[in-house]
Amino acid sequence: MSDALISAVIMADQVEIVLFCLLIILYGIWNRMWMNRLNGHVTRRKRKRCQQSKLWDGFQHLEEELSDELQEHEAMEKRRRLHMNKAVHAFVHAQRTHSLWTHLTSSDWWDRVACNFTDAQWVENFRMSRETFDYICHNLTPVLQRSDTRFRLCIPVRKRVAVALWKLATNAKYRNVGHLFGVGRSTVCKCVQEVCKAITEILMPIHISIPSAERFAEIAEHFEQVWEMPQCVGAIDCTHIPIVAPQEYHYDYVNKKDWHSVALQVVVDGQCLFWDLCAGFAGSANDSHVIRHSKLWTLASAGNLLPPDTKRIAGQDVGYYIIGGSAYPLQTWLMRPIPDRGRLNNCQHQYNLKLRLTRSVVEDAFKRLKGRWRCLLKRNDCDLHLVVHMITSCCVLHNLCEEHQDDFHEEWLTDKELAQPVHVLPETCPTEGNSIRDALVEYLSL
Ligand SMILES: *[C@@H]1O[C@H](CO)[C@@H](O)[C@H](O)[C@H]1NC(C)=O
Ligand SMILES: *[C@@H]1O[C@H](CO)[C@@H](O)[C@H](O)[C@H]1NC(C)=O
Repeated sequence: MSDALISAVIMADQVEIVLFCLLIILYGIWNRMWMNRLNGHVTRRKRKRCQQSKLWDGFQHLEEELSDELQEHEAMEKRRRLHMNKAVHAFVHAQRTHSLWTHLTSSDWWDRVACNFTDAQWVENFRMSRETFDYICHNLTPVLQRSDTRFRLCIPVRKRVAVALWKLATNAKYRNVGHLFGVGRSTVCKCVQEVCKAITEILMPIHISIPSAERFAEIAEHFEQVWEMPQCVGAIDCTHIPIVAPQEYHYDYVNKKDWHSVALQVVVDGQCLFWDLCAGFAGSANDSHVIRHSKLWTLASAGNLLPPDTKRIAGQDVGYYIIGGSAYPLQTWLMRPIPDRGRLNNCQHQYNLKLRLTRSVVEDAFKRLKGRWRCLLKRNDCDLHLVVHMITSCCVLHNLCEEHQDDFHEEWLTDKELAQPVHVLPETCPTEGNSIRDALVEYLSL
């Protein structure tokens, strides 16, 4: 009797095991079919979106994004299969493939290699000294600090700042930055957004601000000593930052040289440090349009920008002024070259030459800015709003690096820049600025 019972029990056990295995196999097949359908659906939706927006060259960008995402999906799928073979348990976790995948990426480069960089390697890779980097992290920690959640450990502030700096310095694709730091593409995007926003909110007011009256006096003295321009407190210029065609109003962003851009107007002191900036005007705007619609113009026209200190020059009381190129209108506080219609005398030539030489400070500042931060050189494919934050952040970082006297490698300078649009504003009737400019012409010819 007991024999029959035992065999019956064994039979029942086997049936149970067979049933269990069958169940697992069925679950596997169903799960796989479901994933395939999901992938197919995502791809079809992407393609459709792509076709709809086949306009302009925004198309190219979307295609890249599409192939990125497809590759990411493939990689995900591969990893998923690997895990399925490893253990039956993987079935249970299959739906959490995404979190598995993020854990599989390697953070070795940042955790083990970058932390042992020499000072020179640090500058070469992050475009700034370790001290400047520490300063940034220290100041941004209050806004960037996150607490760990039950599901994942948050990324440390230092690493997030490093991710953002890498993007600004190289303009590498989000995906490639992600591979280097062992984080996902969307994490890189989030780091760049948050760090740039924090730099603009916290560091910009400290490092790019209208100088105090004492500081203005120092700047004027420096310009006079080095460039022999009395009462000059800054040089203004505009540069265009290449972007991919935006989805909306793309035509407004085409500049005079026929590429899409946003304008960046800056004022620098005699040491290539920015003390004012205005970023984000669409590329089609000319320099005089940008300045007339900037805060600088409002303040200066109302007499609230420059302190009222004057100096007697060639019989004229000359206040502080900024110098600009032929794209800018002549004002009492804004000097520009005298239009050359072939009838200039020697003194006037001398003045134009002096102005041009002195204005090289702003050209140098742009060269160093773009040399350090390559995202300003290549067509920036981020969202327009983010692009403006990136530009201002780069300017703040430029000031920081220059103030801390971080090394600048000459080989970072580049001539591979798109040709910048040139604007010339004709001079109309004489203005108040004329008498001041005449005094300067006389003074400089002595
Ligand atoms: C990096 O430096 C730490 C000490 O600061 C050391 O323990 C570690 O082995 C170094 N790693 C490499 C890859 O040299
Ligand atoms: C600059 O742009 C403004 C408006 O966009 C236009 O009215 C003006 O004529 C332009 N000036 C020059 C010199 O092109």
